[in-house]
This record gives sequence, structure tokens and C-alpha cells, in this order.
Amino acid sequence: MISRRQCLAGLGAAILAPAIVARDSLPGYAQGLDLAALPGLRETAARKGILYGAAVRGDLLSRDPAYRAAVVKECGILVAENAMKFKPIRPTEKGWAFDEADATLAFAEANGMKVRGHTLIWHAALPDWAKATLASGGGAALLEQQIRTVMGRYRGRVLAWDVVNEILEPKDGLIDGLRKSDWYLALGPGYIDRAFRIARETDPGCQLVYNEWGHESYGTRPETILRYLEKLKKGGTPIDAVGMQSHLHTRWNVNARQLSWFCKSAVDLGLEILVTELDGDDSELPDDIQARDQGVHDRVRAFLEAVAAATVPRQVLTWGLSDRYSFMNAPGRREPGSRAKRPLPLDEAMRRKPAWLALHNFFTGL
Ligand code: G3I
Repeated sequence: MISRRQCLAGLGAAILAPAIVARDSLPGYAQGLDLAALPGLRETAARKGILYGAAVRGDLLSRDPAYRAAVVKECGILVAENAMKFKPIRPTEKGWAFDEADATLAFAEANGMKVRGHTLIWHAALPDWAKATLASGGGAALLEQQIRTVMGRYRGRVLAWDVVNEILEPKDGLIDGLRKSDWYLALGPGYIDRAFRIARETDPGCQLVYNEWGHESYGTRPETILRYLEKLKKGGTPIDAVGMQSHLHTRWNVNARQLSWFCKSAVDLGLEILVTELDGDDSELPDDIQARDQGVHDRVRAFLEAVAAATVPRQVLTWGLSDRYSFMNAPGRREPGSRAKRPLPLDEAMRRKPAWLALHNFFTGL
């Protein structure tokens, strides 16, 4: 087991080493740098063996040509923001709804992109009928049916699947900090290992991922995640990678040293590190757009540099591509009258922003 102290000592030098990427100064806007003239992130990342991409919505790909063009220009990998989750893909017990997931796969394959699957087993996006099934003893069959049906449908076409998502919630007071979800209540802690084993049987060539949030945070969450990963690996669970959601916030700094420690420790367990839902919430920053964009840029850069001090993530996805469609600005999420957030690489008009430049410089600086 890697102690935090050992690793911090080792990584200390790595952290203090020259930054992975050249210290880019003010964003292009401020210097007349023509960001639009630079290659797409897809191309820049691919030169370093990295897949850059974004969460997408199928309805938008069909009805917004500017969005579709930006996705094609910037993305080498896609993940369906919602279409492959439990409730959207199986809203009723008898009614499977694969259309949007199918269309997303088809769009990606038509444009030479890879696809991540998100997510098979999660406490959220669970329809009431499934919760009732879990509560009445049908959980084992439901878990197996969901994985074998959804993963089986796309066998060989999905590079990586988030087999489980957000399974830890230490506040629930359960062993290992596990979340007291409907899945846990129905099946106990063993549902997680079971999910991974069924997933491995269903699509042996697919990268199996535990997706979670908070790896960059202060406090004990990163260590809780790591200890659970150690337990899974020790028990022989067929897990290949850790998905770090990476929903950053300008309210808090990235805990770079602990993040690097986490990444190195996970790599030492034989796990790959993936950045799966990167974005930056700028709601705490003043109204000045350049200050807000610079703040998100700085968080994204600090985060990626801390990860790369330990390992190069081979998949880097933002949770959306344009502020126009960020979930943070969705009608149900945005406080009435509040200003739209600017969390993503492209603005509402699909123009590249400082956050885009942070990604560009990260890839070119590796
Ligand atoms: O499609 C229905 C529509 O028919 C209905 O009229 C409408 C109003 O009820 O809801 C629509 O579904 C919404 C769905 O997004 C599609 O827009 C759900 O209510 C809403 O809860 C859902 O929110 C998604 C959320 O996950 C929950 O699944 C967000 O778009 C999505 O960005 C967010 O993504 C999560 C990741 O999966 C996991 N990590 C955190 C991340 C952000 O919360």
C-alpha cells in the first residue's frame, strides 16, 4: 500500500519540476492570438496519443449545425451525456429506448470518433419502476439484465464503459464510505464487484471504469476513493481505469499535490487515469467575462498539470463542448435571473475560449 507521505515526498520534485505546459499568458482574446486558426483539439491531442472529446446530446447533433460542426472539429471521442443512462435507455420495464444512443454511436463512427459509455449502474437516473424492483428483491436480475442488454448491444463499439458511477458517499456512514443507494440497499456492497464481473463477461475487450468525482478536492475524499480501489483490486475485481469527473469550481483551488498522489497511487495499482467530465464552474467570479474565462482556464491548467505530473491521461473529455449547452445552464439547474455560466472550451457562439487554450497548451506541452 502506498502511503501518502511516501508518495508526496517522491512526487514533490515532480510537482516542482518545470510546468508540463508552457506558462501561457493571457488568453488569445487579450493578445489578438487567433485561436480559430489553430488545429482542433482532436488533432492536437491525437499527436500525443490522447483522445480529447466531450459529452454530447443526440438531439443537438441533429438540430444544431454549428454545434455539430464544432463537435466534428474538436472531438476524437464522444460520450452520451444522458442517452445511455438507465432511465433514458429503459424508461419502463418493457420499453427500451435505444434511438439516441444508437444515433450517437452512428454519428461517432461516421466521423471516426471513439465512444465512452456512461453509465451502467448509478444511483441517479433510475426510474421508479427500477427502484421498486430493487426494493422487492429483483435487484440481482435487474443489474445483470441492464449490463448484458446495454453493453451487449454495443459490444466491440465502445472503448470504455463507466460500469459504476459515484458509488461513494462517506456521509452515509457505510463501510468503505459506500453510498447508501437503492443498489446497495438491495444487493449489499457486493453489487459493485458483480457489476464489473458481468461487464467483463459481456464485452471482454472493453475498458471497465469506476467513475467518480472529487479527486482534486481537499479533505479525505481522494483517499477514501483510493482505499476502495485498493480493496477492489485486492479482491480481483476486473476494473481497468478510474474516471475522474473533474467538475472544477473557481471557488476552490485544485489540490495539486493530493491529486498527483492519487493518480500515481492508482497507476501503481495498475489502473489507468481518465478525465471524463472536465468543466469549470465560474459562478463565484465577478461578472467580467475575461476574468471568469481566465479563472476557468487557470483551474483547468492546474488540474491537468497535476494529473500529468503523475501520468498522462489517454482520454480527456469535457462535460459538453459549448457553454450554450452546459448542464449548468439547463433550465432546471440555473437559478432564475442568474447569469449563464461559462464552464466549457467554447462559448455560446462556438468560439474558442481560454479554457480551450488551456487544453490546447496542455496537449502541445506534453
Ligand atoms: O429528457 C427529459 C425530458 O423528457 C423531460 O421533459 C425533462 C423535464 O423533466 O427532463 C428530461 O431529462 C433530463 C435529462 O437531464 C435530459 O435533459 C433530466 O430531468 C435531468 O435530470 C438530466 O440531468 C442530467 C444529470 O446528469 C442527471 O442524469 C444532466 O443533463 C447531465 O449533464 C448530468 O451529468 C452528470 C453525469 O451523468 C455524472 N456526473 C455529474 C454530471 C453533472 O451532474
